[in-house]
Amino acid sequence: MRRRPLSRKVDTVAESQTLAISARAAAMKREGIDVISLTAGEPDFPTPDHIKRAGIAAIEGNFTKYTANKGIPDLLEAISNKFRKENDLPWGTAEILVSSGAKHSIFNALQAICNPGDEVVITSPYWVSYPDMVKLVDAKPIVIKTTDKSNFKITAKELRKALSLKTKVFIFNSPSNPTGMVYSQEEIEEIAAVIADTGMYVISDEIYEHLVYGDAAHFSIGSIDAVKDLTVTVNGVSKAFSMTGWRLGYMGAHKDIIANAAKFQGQVTSNACSISQKAALHALTSPLDEVWRMRDEFEKRRDYVVGELNAIPGITCTKPKGSFYVLPRVDEYFGSSADKYAIRSDVDLCEYLLLEGKVASVPGSAFGAHEYIRLSYTSSMDELRKGIERIGECLGKLAS
Ligand SMILES: Cc1ncc(COP(=O)(O)O)c(C=O)c1O
Repeated sequence: MRRRPLSRKVDTVAESQTLAISARAAAMKREGIDVISLTAGEPDFPTPDHIKRAGIAAIEGNFTKYTANKGIPDLLEAISNKFRKENDLPWGTAEILVSSGAKHSIFNALQAICNPGDEVVITSPYWVSYPDMVKLVDAKPIVIKTTDKSNFKITAKELRKALSLKTKVFIFNSPSNPTGMVYSQEEIEEIAAVIADTGMYVISDEIYEHLVYGDAAHFSIGSIDAVKDLTVTVNGVSKAFSMTGWRLGYMGAHKDIIANAAKFQGQVTSNACSISQKAALHALTSPLDEVWRMRDEFEKRRDYVVGELNAIPGITCTKPKGSFYVLPRVDEYFGSSADKYAIRSDVDLCEYLLLEGKVASVPGSAFGAHEYIRLSYTSSMDELRKGIERIGECLGKLAS
C-alpha cells in the first residue's frame, strides 16, 4: 500500500540504547540464560509500604478522576515546602508544575523556553535523553565534553567558551547520570555567575539529590539569587522513593515559565496520574528514613564496585559521589580480541561482555562518551560480586 512518509523530526531521534540493552538482557533471561544485568536506571528496592498504602487508599477512596492540570493543591503545597526546606528555593504553589515524571518535566521546560534554532548546552557524558529532547523542540544541542581526568566536571570558563548569542538553556545535572559526579557549592556559584551574565536559562535536573555519598552535599543552583528567575529546578519521586513506575515529577520556576509549561502540558497530557499524586504527597510529607537506608546501601555498593573495578588491569574507574552508576574507562581494550570477538569500540565490548560473560552493561556512546561503559549498582551485593567477577574474567581473556 502507498503511504506518505512519517515524521522526519522523529526519524532523527535515537532509540534509547539503555532501554534496548536492558530489553536484550531480559530476553536472554527469559530463555533461561543466567544473565546479570547491570543496566537498570532504577533502585532495586520496592516502593516503601507506607507510600504504596497511600496509593491504595487513593484508589479505594475513588480518587481516580482528572485533577487540576498543574497538580492537586496539597501536593503543590508539599513541593513548595520541600523546595523551601531542602533546597532554599522560594517557589509558591503558582510556581510549581506537577508532571508525569522528571523526564516529562524537562521536556515541558524545554518546550516552555526554546524557539527553533536556539542552542542548548549539555555536558557529556550526558543523560541519554537530553540531546534528543533538545532536537524535538527544534533546538540544537551544544555538547561540552568532559572526561574522568577532570572528574567529569566543567569549569565556568569552559561553559563561557561554549556560549553564543543563540544559547538559550544550559542543562545541568548534579548528581549526574551517568558519571555520578556532584558539583560543590563553590563550583556551582562560579557557573551561576556565567549564567547571570547572559540571561540564559538553566534547567537543573536534581532527580538524584538524595543519593549523595561521603562528604558530598547537594546544592541547588536556583537558590543563588542572581539566577533564581533563570532556573528551572526539576525533581521527582522516581529515584529517592523508588517510585519509577508511578511517573511523578515536578518543576519549580518563575511563574511565566510555569504558565507556558502548564499550557503545553494541558494540551498534551493534562494532569499526572491522580493516584500517584496522592502517593507522592505522602512520600514528600513523611520522614525520609527509608531513603537514607537505601542511600547507605548504595554507598556500600559503590565502594565495593569501584574497588573491584580498579583492581582489573586496564580499567580506570573514578569514584562517583552520587546517583547509582559507575563509568569505568575501558578504551585500553580497544584493538584487542578473543576467539571470534574483535573489540573496536565500547559497543563491541558490551556485546562481548553480554554474549561471553553474560553481563549486561551500557556502552558509553549512549551518553556521548565512547571511552567508557556504564554499570548500575542497583543489584544485590551478591549479583554485583558475580557480575564483576565475570567482567574481570572476560577482560582477562582479551589479548592485544
Ligand atoms: C538524570 C535523569 N533525569 C531524569 C530522569 C527521569 O526521571 P523520571 O523517572 O522521574 O522521569 C532520569 C531517569 O533515569 C535521569 O537519570
